[in-house]
Order: sequence, then structure tokens, then C-alpha cells
Amino acid sequence: MKITLANVQWNKAKADALAFFQLEDKKWIREMQSHYGKSKPLFRASDALLESGDMLGKKDEIFTLYPTRSEAQAKRIFLVGIGKKDKITIEQIRRSAARAARKAEQTKSKSMALYVPEVKGKNGAEITAAIVEGIELGLYKYDKFFKKEEPRVPLQSLTILYQPGHENIWGSSVADVKQAIAETQTLCEAVNFARDMENEPSNNKYPAILGDWAKQAGEEAGLKVTVMGPAELEKNKMVGTLNVNKGSVKEPRFIVLEYNGGKKNEAPVVLVGKGITFDTGGISIKPAAGMGDMKSDMSGAATVIATLKAAANLKLPVNLVGLVASAENMPSGSAMRPGDIISYPNGVSAEVDNTDAEGRLVLADALIWAERYKPKSVIDLATLTGACVVALGHATTGMMGNDIAMMSQLRKSGDTTYERVCELPIYEEYEELIKSDVADIKNTGGRWAGAITAALFLKRFTSYPWVHLDIAGTARSETAGDYIPKGGTGVGVRLLIDMLRSDGAMN
Ligand code: BES
Ligand code: MN
Ligand code: ZN
Repeated sequence: MKITLANVQWNKAKADALAFFQLEDKKWIREMQSHYGKSKPLFRASDALLESGDMLGKKDEIFTLYPTRSEAQAKRIFLVGIGKKDKITIEQIRRSAARAARKAEQTKSKSMALYVPEVKGKNGAEITAAIVEGIELGLYKYDKFFKKEEPRVPLQSLTILYQPGHENIWGSSVADVKQAIAETQTLCEAVNFARDMENEPSNNKYPAILGDWAKQAGEEAGLKVTVMGPAELEKNKMVGTLNVNKGSVKEPRFIVLEYNGGKKNEAPVVLVGKGITFDTGGISIKPAAGMGDMKSDMSGAATVIATLKAAANLKLPVNLVGLVASAENMPSGSAMRPGDIISYPNGVSAEVDNTDAEGRLVLADALIWAERYKPKSVIDLATLTGACVVALGHATTGMMGNDIAMMSQLRKSGDTTYERVCELPIYEEYEELIKSDVADIKNTGGRWAGAITAALFLKRFTSYPWVHLDIAGTARSETAGDYIPKGGTGVGVRLLIDMLRSDGAMN
């Protein structure tokens, strides 16, 4: 999307559609009146709309008015409700902007113009960023497999209007707003890239493909990317990934992405992603219903690859490493069996009680590998447990770990980006549950506290400050939200970039 700023009056703006954000009060009609002059047909139409009671300015409302040629250049005006003045949040702006963009697309508008509404306590750059997020993320579609009968008419350009003579948008300079727009577009491109990877069906997506995508992202953004195949996994004793992949006809991969934007000797933040390109459960096979969703069991990997790409494109002043352990969990004559024991190179042995608890087995390889970077902190992202979805549903990511400072920063970043996280405890009492009769630990912890016992399994492979994010519930959406589509959400990219940008995270 081409996004520009223009200091012209709305009625002179050359766009197919104009979007006006409307507060939930009757003042908006008075404002329009003062703009239009009381007797103008458009004003009368909006007055009639108000009198009818159909449009109140409540959040989520959207109505269309049609100006005459003499009134405005635009063909249509969307009145987009944003709710009560003192209740407007950045999140509401994201949502309302997404709705306006979708309405534009439905009406085949190729261009749209709008004013940045006021949000208490936020400056123009922040509010504009929310508008751009809503629009870029809200227009995302995974439609490449459809037969194109009627080609999609995408919204191609957006004009942010500001009052002629004013070089300032809610306390931000035009230059600051421009920078916020460019950065937000870079960020949203990465989120949508993660969504694309998540949504790709697994006949087209296996560990080698994940490696190719990482390489491509690396070339585009200037990352160093290393993709290891089976021989190197053997050499480096990546026994978790090798064992999980045994039932598959595809080869496993271990992917390393490096971005050095920080000081030379500064310890990096290491991001670890679960890259199961399809999870059948293996020999402990899953029920048929809903199994197709397991194509996005590599969402953690998608987030890590996309975050590295975004961090590099944004030139963040940080050192960052991304690690992806990738396998396909299939049942077959060569597959890993329940009862098998895996001996990891850090000395820990794990009994495979259930081959469907494969995520923790592959993540262990990456967590061991992470040690070599002497990391400041390691954050792993994984669609790890159904139990986390039972606990928190689809709106909140489960967070566990021992890096208190990082967890409190992630909590803040979650509230800012609305990719919210909630901490679950990993008290030592739970460790009892993953004790094995034949090995140091087993990969299941029984019926209760499944998200926690999974985290405690991972903890056995960490020797540094660490945070685990269980995104099983948040990486896929069952229903379309305003700017979160059905399917892959790309969750974690905005969260992590916000964390990396915050000074607090870097101490
Ligand atoms: N990939 C699944 C977890 C999952 C479930 C992700 C639902 C997204 C939505 C994971 O590999 C898995 O199968 N976990 C098992 C662990 C159990 C066998 C201990 C689970 O949660 O049932
Ligand atoms: Mn599984
Ligand atoms: Zn899985």
C-alpha cells in the first residue's frame, strides 16, 4: 500500500473513499455541519442518518454517505464509529481502521483518505501507526489457491490528511508521522509474511521449505542464515529433532538466523521457534477432527523468522539470533515409538511417553544450541499444548520462565500491541509430574497443568535467563476479527519487536 500525507481539506482530497472516524456523541454531526454548511445535501443526508437513530457512532458501526460532485471529490464517505471519547484506545483505532479498509475494498475503492482521530495520551505518530496496522493487517487474505474469477480489487493507496497550514498531527511532526508509517509498514509486512507461512498447506511445506523461506528472508533483509540438514543434525547431536522426524519421508532441518545490529560484544537475545511443519501426533496419532490445523504447528518458527526479518529491516540496535528446529511428526514403520528414550547431549535423558508431545523434544535441541551464544535472554515460541488453549483460550499467550525482567517487559509489550501474555507458574512442585521410571524426565505430565509441565520439560535444557511463550491458542484464529483473519495470525512478531524496541528490555 502506498501511504502518503497531504495537507488538503477532505473535500479536495482525490480518493475513491473518505473515512471519518466518529465519536459516540452527536457532536460529529455538528462538526460536519460546520464543514459543509447546513443546507448542503450531504449534511442533510447525515442529519437524516442521525435522526433515524441508525448511526450512533458506537464502536464497530460503519455507514456510507454519498456526496455530490460539488461537495467532495470522493465517491463515498464512510462514517466509522469509534465509541465514546474518553474510552477510545489505540486498539479501537486499529479495529476501526481495519473495518474502514475492508469497506473500501468491498466498494472497490482503490484509494482512501482519512484524518487521524485524537486518542488521549497518544501522539499523532502512535495513532497513525495504529491506523496503518489496522489497514495493512486487516486487508490480509490468504487467497492464492482460489480460482480467480473476479480479480480482487485491492485498496492501493491511503492518504493521511491534515489541516492545511498545520505541520503537526496531535503533537507529532509530519516527519515523525512519516517515519512511523514506514516502520509500521515494515512491521506489518513481516506479520503478514508469518501468516503466509502459517497458512501454507503441508503438502507444500516441510522442513526444507522452512529453510528456504528463512534463506529468502535473510537475503531480503541482510541476515546471516545457516540451514543444517540431517548430517549436521547427527553431527551436532540434535537428537530430539532427528527422533521426531523419523517417521517422515522428508528431511529435518535446523535453522540459524543471525542479525547483528547491536554493539559488537553485546550478548544477543536468542529467539527459538517450534517448527513442526505438520503434527499428526505420530504413533500416538491425533483424532481426525481438526487435525488439518496442525499445518500451522510451525507458527513459533514463522514468528522467529519474521521477527528477525523485521528487526533487520527496521535496523534495530540489537543483536539477535533465531533458532528453528524443524521436523514433520508422522506415524510410519520408521517412526519414534512411545517408550523410546532420547539421550540429549547435555546429559538429560527423556522418555517418550507420547509421540504427540513432540514440540518439547525438538525445542530441547535448540535450547541446548542457544547456550553457545551466552545469551542475554532466550525466548522460545511454540504451539506447544492444547492445555494452554484450555486455560487461556485464543486471546492470550501463556508465558512461563525465569527471566523476571523480560517477562515484565513482555507483559507491557503485550498490552501495547494487544498480543497479550499471561504468566503461568512453574513452581517446583509440578516437576514431580514429569518424573520417569526409566529416564531423567518424560515428555508428558498427565492430565493436569499440561502447559506448565511442558514448560518444566523445556526448563531442563536451559542454563540462562529464559522465557517460554505457548502460542497454541493465539497462533491460529477460529473466527475472523477486525484485523486478525481466520487462520494464521502471525502472533508474536509485533510483541517481540515492541519488546526489542523498549529500552527496558535491553538492560
Ligand atoms: N501441537 C500440539 C499442541 C496444539 C494443540 C497446538 C492445539 C495448537 C492447538 C502439540 O504437539 C501436542 O500435540 N501437544 C499435546 C501434548 C500431550 C500429548 C502431552 C497436547 O497438548 O495434547
Ligand atoms: Mn503434538
Ligand atoms: Zn505439535
